[in-house]
Amino acid sequence: MAFATRQFVRAASSDAATAAAKKLLIKHVTIIGGGLMGAGIAQVAAASGHTVVLVDQSDEILKKSTKGIEESLKRVTKKKFADKPEAGAEFIKKTLKNLTTSTDAASVVHSTDLVIEAIVENLDVKNELFKTLDKFAPEHTIFASNTSSLQITKMANATTRQDRFGGLHFFNPVPMMKLVEVIKTPMTSQKTFESLVDFSKAVGKSPVSCKDTPGFIVNRLLVPYMMEAVRLFERGDASKEDIDVAMKLGAGYPMGPFELLDYVGLDTSKYIIDGWHSLEPNNPLFAPSPLLNKLVEEKKLGKKTGEGFYKYK
Ligand code: NAI
Repeated sequence: MAFATRQFVRAASSDAATAAAKKLLIKHVTIIGGGLMGAGIAQVAAASGHTVVLVDQSDEILKKSTKGIEESLKRVTKKKFADKPEAGAEFIKKTLKNLTTSTDAASVVHSTDLVIEAIVENLDVKNELFKTLDKFAPEHTIFASNTSSLQITKMANATTRQDRFGGLHFFNPVPMMKLVEVIKTPMTSQKTFESLVDFSKAVGKSPVSCKDTPGFIVNRLLVPYMMEAVRLFERGDASKEDIDVAMKLGAGYPMGPFELLDYVGLDTSKYIIDGWHSLEPNNPLFAPSPLLNKLVEEKKLGKKTGEGFYKYK
């Protein structure tokens, strides 16, 4: 028995060693979409020594993205190198040297190890992009989407590299939030999955893994919780202020559900819940909310528009 166990352990560790040897060491990264998420991902990837090309639709947008990255780097550096301003300046210089920009994704993916897509949350637009890039990226390149609510499998199926396709779901703001959800579809190979896990660690994050299910882990729990809070308020069971106070003081959450909804954006939350509702119309957790729909219709989208459930100056 002891012998059999030893044999098994030896075989298992040699399997693990073979898988590890086959993993792709990601050095060159292309990030498509220089908005809130793409710029943050570009920043952490460049800061951790990867060469990064950030792609968006115009030079004007990319200028804004780069400026945002520079400002964010200054904030990070102030904390990280509080006593060593020279080392801080060197860190910023090195990070920015690793980062270039482009408006033509097809022409920059020829030598990339990993493409991370962080463009508009629209399946047709994402599929179109992946289909094009599939033709121009080398064989070994892994594709990943940062989508919050769309099925990774559907995007993988728009390409011929289903085994080299997964989800890399970062959190906002990317430089601050430690979590990355690494999403494995039924077609994602173990090598791809492990390479994505290693990349997440290399950019300083803590990866967790999840199958390709609506909302993965965090949003699958968080969005229905926020929707339940809206329903509690809609029924008149408690005020939104009291619900927020209750969850902060009673559950230890840093923000109440209404504060969080305003922070995330009511349009984003509505988009997610509508998508899941169409997938599972009988699931009461995914039921739409008339109040949320009304606020979105009135363009009260949360902090970004100055009003959502609360008013902001
Ligand atoms: P955003 O609107 O800030 O940025 C999207 C960027 O993509 C824009 O700069 C836009 O010009 C660019 N873009 C659109 N189509 C393009 C194309 N075909 N080629 C190149 N660039 C294109 O959006 P955000 O918030 O950064 O979200 C991006 C993705 O990340 C979405 O899939 C979203 O679901 C996901 N996500 C968003 C989070 C958030 O808190 N905002 C959190 C986690 C994931």
